[in-house]
Amino acid sequence: MSELPFFPPDLFAEDREVLLDLIQEVGLSRDQRFILGERTADFETALRRSLGARDVIACGSGTSALGLVLRAMGIGAGDEVVVPAFGCAPLASSVLRVGAVPVFADVHPLHMVLDPDQAARRISPRTKAIMPAHMFSIMADMPRFAELADEAGVRLLEDSAVAQGATLQGVPAGLWGEAGVFSFVQVKSFGMPGEGGAVVTRDPGIARTVRMLRNHGQDGRQRFVHHLVGQNSRFDEIQAAFQLHRLRGLPARLERRAAIADYYTNRFQPLADDGIVPPPPGREGRCYYVYSLQAERRDELRDHLAARGIGSHVYYPAPLPKQPAFAPHAAPGGEWPNAQRACDRILALPIYPHLTDAEVERVADAVCEFARLRMAPTS
Ligand SMILES: Cc1ncc(COP(=O)(O)O)c(C=O)c1O
Repeated sequence: MSELPFFPPDLFAEDREVLLDLIQEVGLSRDQRFILGERTADFETALRRSLGARDVIACGSGTSALGLVLRAMGIGAGDEVVVPAFGCAPLASSVLRVGAVPVFADVHPLHMVLDPDQAARRISPRTKAIMPAHMFSIMADMPRFAELADEAGVRLLEDSAVAQGATLQGVPAGLWGEAGVFSFVQVKSFGMPGEGGAVVTRDPGIARTVRMLRNHGQDGRQRFVHHLVGQNSRFDEIQAAFQLHRLRGLPARLERRAAIADYYTNRFQPLADDGIVPPPPGREGRCYYVYSLQAERRDELRDHLAARGIGSHVYYPAPLPKQPAFAPHAAPGGEWPNAQRACDRILALPIYPHLTDAEVERVADAVCEFARLRMAPTS
């Protein structure tokens, strides 16, 4: 039986020649410019146009994009930022690294994204920003968060790291917040073979500051004059040229991911009574970086798939406020039951665009077989 890995080694195989040529071209170029050159500027322009965004600033990773925006928003010591209790570490660490406090709010039980009502309850006079994150299949309720941020007079940072290509009410992910971020790491919907990210913003002040902060506080005009205490969060020229090339194929790859998700959801919807719950059907406000279902016997399902050569992945095994690094910063005695439930039940299935129909069917068959076996009466 052939292996169907969760992280496929041939993700960039069809662009192998292009990548090798670019390494040669950039590596041997006269100007020896490996970061923040013309290719990065062209990539930023192409992304900006494709999104209809006011500005895009490419940087070192999605994580550093979050930190750059928090700093550009002036968030620091003594401030609070409301973040989801379920999600990736940078949601908490980026806040802590600017000296502020992440205030964890629970998530929606099925959608697993920050619940606006829970977020509203966590707003205090010290709150400076709300930072909802789109999760594996579903965008956060950005219209509600925009209202909430407005009413509370706080900033709205949209963690759209995993949601590139998704739209809600016709507005692309990343454009709902005063600033949004993307991550281009490997398996993301616009992943690449390396680290990278971007800030998207409609605010010229945020854009200017982020541009300076990503390159040691320099303003791009005069070298070695440091106006701000910045950092190194620069973008690689080879990757910029590669992403420019891959941008053309992005809509087709996103469509393929969406079609795989539609197929899975269609197959899994009848399994709810067997303890397997897919994300709700539909394409509005949906992203297809990862296809995550919830399963009552998640670990058994994972083993069942592994025994059939199918890779799966648990993102994430513990709520953020229960992580050793973040627990000391969480509300003492706090409970985040929906985040805990998501961590106990979530399982991500392969969804990369070059999966064949037969492979997609094989994954779905294996999940359905598990449900049938579990339901079979024991004699
Ligand atoms: C919601 C979310 N935000 C931010 C990040 C950080 O992106 P990066 O890995 O590029 O630093 C991730 C990474 O998976 C993520 O899932």
